[in-house]
Amino acid sequence: MSSFGEKGAPGRSVTPPATPSASTPASRPVKTPSTEDRNVEPVKLDYAGVEGGTEKVSAGGEGSPVPEKKTQTVDPWSVESDAAIDYDKLIKDFGTTRISKELLNRFEELTGTKPHHFLTREIFFSHRDLSAILDLYEKGQKFYLYTGRGPSSEALHLGHCIPFFFTKWLQDVFNCPLVIQLTDDEKFLFKQDLKLDECHRLAYENAKDIIAVGFDMSKTFIFSDLDYIQYMYPTILQIQKMTTYNQVRSIFGFTMSDNIGKSAFPAVQAAPSFSACFPIPLNGAKNMPCLIPCAIDQDAYFRMTRDVAPRMKCNKPSLIHSKFFPPLQGRGGKMSGSVGNSAVFLTDTPKQIKDKINKHAFSGGQDTMEKQRELGANLDVDVAYEWLTFFCDDDARIAQIGDDYSTGKMLTGEVKKELIGVLQKMVGEHQERRAAVTDDIVKQFMTVRSLEF
Ligand code: TRP
Repeated sequence: MSSFGEKGAPGRSVTPPATPSASTPASRPVKTPSTEDRNVEPVKLDYAGVEGGTEKVSAGGEGSPVPEKKTQTVDPWSVESDAAIDYDKLIKDFGTTRISKELLNRFEELTGTKPHHFLTREIFFSHRDLSAILDLYEKGQKFYLYTGRGPSSEALHLGHCIPFFFTKWLQDVFNCPLVIQLTDDEKFLFKQDLKLDECHRLAYENAKDIIAVGFDMSKTFIFSDLDYIQYMYPTILQIQKMTTYNQVRSIFGFTMSDNIGKSAFPAVQAAPSFSACFPIPLNGAKNMPCLIPCAIDQDAYFRMTRDVAPRMKCNKPSLIHSKFFPPLQGRGGKMSGSVGNSAVFLTDTPKQIKDKINKHAFSGGQDTMEKQRELGANLDVDVAYEWLTFFCDDDARIAQIGDDYSTGKMLTGEVKKELIGVLQKMVGEHQERRAAVTDDIVKQFMTVRSLEF
């Protein structure tokens, strides 16, 4: 059994058939390199000859101690559920804490900022030690934000943007430094067909979309693991030495036939939680506390991180977790970039957005107009309505649509039309900002340099 200290140690949350929930939606000092070493040249590395592995890609499931009859699996590689995801169960299984009204009130009092609609609508719904971050803010002490992306596809879809939108808002509110990890190494190890040079290229490609979200360059450092590994390596080694194979296996479900890189990787995602990895960006800060915004499927990495932190004489990172952005087809799971029609991509044209939503968004409305007028829609399963709760920040409008649609005053087509308008505007504006992100801007964000804070 794992000796992990975090409550609810096993990483994979597996529910027996159950009713869906009511939830709506240290370290060793790193030698500072000389100034000449500081700039990381993008895309010069030649990994072209490095092929993908030969064994089959395992989501960590096969052969792992998971009962056959599962209705809900949530780990970094799969989010599967027969019904709506039971978020209360995840909170219980992972041992996290629901974000309370009181916590949001305190947040508002301290920052003078109204909580983001992701918070008030419980899209970011769970945390670990968020109050510790608010305590620091209250005392005027520094902390940094850390988030990341696994670059496995050319284009990001709307679900990928949620943590970045939220992280930008946090950076603006707290005025703090931010590091963004692009795990090109992870995608190489976990995706059978991807070659290393391709993963590295995708990291730079994805960086453009991330930059287009609007991060403050003077406070944001984006890095590819392949490029930046040397700065993190002392921390990675410490984490690896403190973590046994039994532990990663129990948290991540690795099997005897998974490649050994997978077992070593969790330490790479854990490492940026410790400020020792950023001697230059964080100006030599010793043990600076860290807040990680992420989707709840990433929590497994940070349970492991929080377990080793005290032994490394480091602060445990705090976390704030989001729910998953539902696929167009609805029901369980998260939107997948590989199932074309389940997602809206940041590269979609206005027409593609319109067609996908009209054709594929699962409707909670009735079959006929007469029945809809009489009975109204079931908002709990309606995807267009749920997507609006993510992207329409007007609370009064959302409440109005909710009332009208559930009582039959509004029809599915009208709700979809509203969503299409919101998304066409949002995606269009993103595309404009992205077009303005030059290679030179990417290079600046990804240069090892000291951040201003
Ligand atoms: N593993 C994540 C993914 O596949 C990427 C990631 C790296 C990340 N570090 C992170 C996500 C920190 C959230 C927070 O997308």
